[in-house]
Amino acid sequence: MSVDSAQPTPTGLLGWFDKRFPVMRVWNEHLAEYYAPKNMGLWSVFGSLALLVLVIQIVSGIWLAMSYKPSATEAFASVEYIMRDVNWGWLLRYMHSTGASFFFILVYLHMFRGLMWGSYKKPRELLWIIGVVIYLAMMATAFFGYLLPWGQMSYWGAQVIVNLFAAVPGIGEDLSVWVRGDYVISDATLNRFFAFHFLIPFLLAGLVFLHIVALHRVGSTNPDGIEIKENKDENGIPKDGIPFHPYYTVKDSVAFVVFLAVFSLVMFYAPDMGGLFLEGPNFQPADPLKTPEHIAPVWYFTPYYAMLRAVPPIAGSQFPGVVVMFAAILILFLVPWLDRSPVRSIRYKGNLSKIFLAAFAVSFVVLAYLGLKPASDLYTLLSQIFTVVYFAFFLLMPIYTKLEKTKPVPERVTT
Ligand code: HEM
Repeated sequence: MSVDSAQPTPTGLLGWFDKRFPVMRVWNEHLAEYYAPKNMGLWSVFGSLALLVLVIQIVSGIWLAMSYKPSATEAFASVEYIMRDVNWGWLLRYMHSTGASFFFILVYLHMFRGLMWGSYKKPRELLWIIGVVIYLAMMATAFFGYLLPWGQMSYWGAQVIVNLFAAVPGIGEDLSVWVRGDYVISDATLNRFFAFHFLIPFLLAGLVFLHIVALHRVGSTNPDGIEIKENKDENGIPKDGIPFHPYYTVKDSVAFVVFLAVFSLVMFYAPDMGGLFLEGPNFQPADPLKTPEHIAPVWYFTPYYAMLRAVPPIAGSQFPGVVVMFAAILILFLVPWLDRSPVRSIRYKGNLSKIFLAAFAVSFVVLAYLGLKPASDLYTLLSQIFTVVYFAFFLLMPIYTKLEKTKPVPERVTT
């Protein structure tokens, strides 16, 4: 949230630009005079880090696209060619595959911070909803991208997921053929998935721009969930606010350096992360005649895959499982209205909210683990239990946030 103060008119080249484009106004409004809460702490770096990874993905992706061949006969070989013959091709490939997983790690932490701080509550409902749309776009990009190496897991993972569309009553068969462009995953599917995988990240960049504009309209919240703009000094500056630049730009830069060090460690020394970031079977070319023993999506999808598998088919149809899987994601849109608590932050909410939020986090991690594993009776039972816990967090929220006793929120932020 920016404050109007008389800034000297820039001169020289900057002055020339500023007369023709509102450089200084944008700089002041969104950085130098954008006041953010002084106590945002570590949890507020994940948004900026996600932005950094989005840039890494788009740049490395464009470079990979220069050598990649989106055809069923050439795709696998072209990735091998990138890995072995293209200058620094192996680095670009590992940067992109490592980036994909880190992108989801950062955004999951970013979303969890939003759930903890109540960053979806009025007036930030739209900011949160744009966030959920970003999350959906990320999942679509990752899903389309996953087929491109045309390895065994790419091929059969896509087969499993696209077949889910066939479970939709009445239109399922036609829908799945429409999505594939064929009756099985084929060259046509690979081509269109590549087109979408190239296009959606640019839409994502646009969504992130809207996300940050929406944020700067309402202002950042903080661990106390206090609106800092409700307590200003005689100059109209929030007493608990500090200018985003230089304070948070410097802080985020430190986070960038630490993050890039960790990112490089993984990229150079463990790009497959023991099969979590790059699965072993995907180093074999796709073979439509040979189904892998165990088919599982990449870890950032497995919580939802575990939920899908937890729901037993009804009359041979997997549609109920598909509904549960999509409901688990779409329910995020409702959070601003499910939370009836008079306070924002988990700090001042009651024990019930704390217990449900913790149970939700545990259920998400456990479901991610179960979704990676081959199905068994025990794992299916556990998946059913943790799917119920996952949904209980959302569906019971209107009740426990209303019933529980909250603590008084201080007038000023705590540091
Ligand atoms: C590409 C993915 C994303 C990027 C680059 C991004 C970027 C950012 C940035 C830079 C901020 C301000 C710094 C901060 O508070 O972290 C922010 C805040 C926020 N983001 Fe995101 N975001 C992304 C995805 C999401 C998603 C998926 C959600 C929710 C579903 C979300 C919800 C929010 C909320 C509620 C805030 C305000 C936090 C507060 O002030 O309390 N974002 N985002």
